[in-house]
Amino acid sequence: KGDIRDQVFLESIFKEVYSLNNYFHAVIHLAGLKSVRESILKPKRYWDVNLNGSINLVNVMKKFNCYSIVFSSSATVYGIADKELLDENSIIKPCNVYGETKARIEKLLLNLCLENNNWRVCNLRYFNPAGAHYSGLIGEATCNNPNNLFPYLNLVAIGKKKFLRIYGNDWNTRDGTAIRDYLHVDDLAYGHLLIMQHILSDKFKIKNINIGTGKGTTVLELINTYQKVNNCEIPFEFVSRREGDVESLIADNQLLKKTLNWIPSKSLESMCLDSLNWQKNS
Ligand code: UD1
Repeated sequence: KGDIRDQVFLESIFKEVYSLNNYFHAVIHLAGLKSVRESILKPKRYWDVNLNGSINLVNVMKKFNCYSIVFSSSATVYGIADKELLDENSIIKPCNVYGETKARIEKLLLNLCLENNNWRVCNLRYFNPAGAHYSGLIGEATCNNPNNLFPYLNLVAIGKKKFLRIYGNDWNTRDGTAIRDYLHVDDLAYGHLLIMQHILSDKFKIKNINIGTGKGTTVLELINTYQKVNNCEIPFEFVSRREGDVESLIADNQLLKKTLNWIPSKSLESMCLDSLNWQKNS
């Protein structure tokens, strides 16, 4: 546990492994800040942690001859969707600082590959990860005022928050609320393993890959499912749209399905169940 901007700290991890006569084959890079709202309020902090942190990481990797990386990127790099399903060739035009930092890091990794033939990179573009491990033992650390929908739903369900604020009922969607492609974290984790195997067996040099189910769910649909499977009430009220939000983000996931045989195995119902189960255990 440490700060990705701290070079001495990062080097100490690599050194420790070397001292055991071993080495790192690859890195899964998930270290970053991820609140859209906070990124608009504190842009310098986002550029520093996300971009400078990543530059620091790749410098240390290079120093220790580790050239394979799976980077946790985001569907937010696409910005406003120009078609229903976003494939990897969709226009990159993020509409908030958080998304801009992700797009820049992707570019940085591309530049590294062009400069040095050793690098193997996957920019894995997450849609909306949700849920928790079914055991209830592993999940997202909760805070008092989460920005994201799932942790907030959990707090309403256990009575720590009185109601959910839905950001906008005037989107151009089937019920006026925004659409997202929610993906169970177990399917997300499995996707990383498959990609890692591909990278390490040298199947590709650099790829941008979407990871999502390909199914869109509105906020109201999600609330309905959550209430039904967890047998609880989620009071809500509509408020205005949140700055930096977009109407719809749904993955075209054919690349991941076809090249790696990845198939999302868990339903929206499982995400809702596992999410609350984790909250009750944590
Ligand atoms: C955002 C980013 C995503 C990033 C994720 C991580 C965008 C478009 N997406 O996801 O790339 O990986 O944050 O933090 O920048 N909502 C409510 N009330 C709430 C919370 C959310 O109505 O209290 C709505 C949002 O308006 C949105 C949906 O629920 O339509 C999902 O929101 P959230 O869980 O925050 O994820 P994104 O904003 O989609």
